[in-house]
Amino acid sequence: MKVLVVGSGGREHALAWKLAKSPRVAKVYVAPGNAGTALDPALANVAFESVPALVEFAHRESIRLTVVGPEGPLAEGIVDAFRAAGLAIFGPTQAAARLESSKQFAKAFMQRHGIPTAPWGSFDDAHEAHRWIDARTGPVVVKADGLAAGKGVVVAADAAEAHAAVDAMLSGSAAGSAGARVVVEDRLDGEEASFIVMADGVHVLPLASSQDHKRLGDADLGPNTGGMGAYSPAPVVTPAVHARIMREVIQPAVAGMAAERMPYTGFLYAGVMIDAAGNPRVLEFNCRLGDPETQPIVVRLASDLVTLVEHATAGTLDAIEAEWDRRAALTVVLAAAGYPGAPRKGDVISGLDAAAAHPDVVVFHAGTVQDGALVRTSGGRVLGVTAIGDSIRQAQRAAYAAVASIHFDGMQYRSDIGHRALARRG
Ligand code: AMP
Ligand code: GLY
Repeated sequence: MKVLVVGSGGREHALAWKLAKSPRVAKVYVAPGNAGTALDPALANVAFESVPALVEFAHRESIRLTVVGPEGPLAEGIVDAFRAAGLAIFGPTQAAARLESSKQFAKAFMQRHGIPTAPWGSFDDAHEAHRWIDARTGPVVVKADGLAAGKGVVVAADAAEAHAAVDAMLSGSAAGSAGARVVVEDRLDGEEASFIVMADGVHVLPLASSQDHKRLGDADLGPNTGGMGAYSPAPVVTPAVHARIMREVIQPAVAGMAAERMPYTGFLYAGVMIDAAGNPRVLEFNCRLGDPETQPIVVRLASDLVTLVEHATAGTLDAIEAEWDRRAALTVVLAAAGYPGAPRKGDVISGLDAAAAHPDVVVFHAGTVQDGALVRTSGGRVLGVTAIGDSIRQAQRAAYAAVASIHFDGMQYRSDIGHRALARRG
């Protein structure tokens, strides 16, 4: 069969790579893809001009299954459009994608269903937001309501920074129209984990746990990014914490969406803060897989991903289980000069073949483009060097050994991916 992956990042390369391993798959198309998906003979890139054009392509090529990577097309209703055309697609509808596309919707939903999250307020009036902040005793976080490509959250160091963030967002200067409304909430302390499941509207299949590194610099310093690296499993998600997240967050979320007549189908990502006592609280919902969390997760997935997605679109996720490689996987993101601000494009990347020749290593592409025989940078996060090993430490060693083979001008990466897991496990 032929399948289609929508997106162009490292998450989508990893998804396509895994789907192509299924013995039942003849071809995986990626729209629009990157240099990595273009170079892999099992994959082929296609243009992504519009959702109607993609629907037409899916009909013409008899695509049996479509999997959507990023939140943008989901929030625009790509799932609704494919379903209306009679095409199988895995992802949430536009209405269900509001769990990510509106922070106010997500917070109010959590409140309605008793899902633990930080105390919050939602404002389109700056005076009211300022008053709410002044009434809090502890530090707060200011978030643009809408999708802001990772630029919509300010974890304020003090009240002055929080007030400034409110003004910058509501004036439109910080996050454009996404910031026309802000959610302000108490800052939570603890350790963050990414808890991602597949949902079929009723049933849930949890994926392996993971953690990412959001800050640009070593020791978690510097500006926020989309994620500079990730690993799976996340030791902070002990079996007890796993059970609590399922019971207190995931199950009420999926049951709540069904009760509100927008059954949730697709990957559902809960960003969870886990405090010292093991209490989980939701920081955010994403209506998609994480990037870069997907990269270490898929290399550990032993089951056929096509079969899992087929069960999810058929509403029979309760009939299967996912099998996981017991080893650990770790991804180091190589980012372009200027990331996360304005990344420079066009730098020539060398050493890709040498890196991929390392044992237990896969190099997933993200912001890359083919230029004849060359591969050049074309986005902020350029590559995700991913390795599997008997422990986080071994996966980390293997990943960094492969990183050493790769070069492009201005390349930035962290040298400590996995440090939190290593501090727990040694
Ligand atoms: P979000 O898009 O809501 O996940 O926010 C992005 C990042 O900001 C999260 O991954 C956290 O690292 C941080 N963050 C968001 N909300 C909070 C909070 N209430 N307390 C502490 N950190 C937060
Ligand atoms: N790595 C964080 C995210 O995908 O939202």
